[in-house]
Amino acid sequence: MNRPPPTEPPPAVRGFIFDLDGVLTDTAEFHYRAWQRLADEEGLPFSRAVNEHLRGVSRRESLMLIVQDRAYAEDQLQAMMARKNQYYLDAIQDIRPADLLPGARPLLEEIKAAGLKAALGSASKNAAEVIDRLGLRPLLDVIADGHSVAQPKPAPDLFLYAAEQLGLLPAACAVVEDAAAGVTAAIAGGFRSVGLGPPERVGDAEVIFPSLAGVTLTKLLAALA
Ligand code: BG6
Ligand code: MG
Repeated sequence: MNRPPPTEPPPAVRGFIFDLDGVLTDTAEFHYRAWQRLADEEGLPFSRAVNEHLRGVSRRESLMLIVQDRAYAEDQLQAMMARKNQYYLDAIQDIRPADLLPGARPLLEEIKAAGLKAALGSASKNAAEVIDRLGLRPLLDVIADGHSVAQPKPAPDLFLYAAEQLGLLPAACAVVEDAAAGVTAAIAGGFRSVGLGPPERVGDAEVIFPSLAGVTLTKLLAALA
């Protein structure tokens, strides 16, 4: 009798790479409000629904999605990005540990207690400031942010950088994302993927939860097994 060829089981998950905005804290809302203010001032059409496509997308790519084919000189684009960033910086000044989304801190604490690794994998150039305001530094082994690599999500580069810094293979890391661009990046890099949010947005992820609320390490590892 012919036996099917043995298939390699995936390696055990040894580390997690967390997106920041919309995963650990609700700064996705602050990014949205900052873009909405800029768009309103510039008379550019924009809405919360359009903003769903900007989740996880770099500052420049976000602006390009808003201006579309309208002609702007480079210095005008730079000025608009700087203005949006100032609105965003104003908004994050009051962020405190209480602004962590439900489930985020307990999960990071469980990961550390279990001897597993945790990294940040955020496209934001402001991620380190937010992480410090949230008091999360001690729970993260690696910070990969908008300064770490040249190619933004949906390219896998940021997550590959984070995994390398953790000393883990992509297949041994699970990426936790709220954005379609982030899930695409995770899959492209050969990572395990956990989507947070509606299936219309993160439906390509292997495992989907509405948010991190109630997501324990046991539950997460069981879902990925
Ligand atoms: C991502 C956000 O984490 O970072 C995007 O989801 C944002 O909305 C991107 O555009 C870049 O952030 P920043 O802070 O560098 O403008
Ligand atoms: Mg996000």
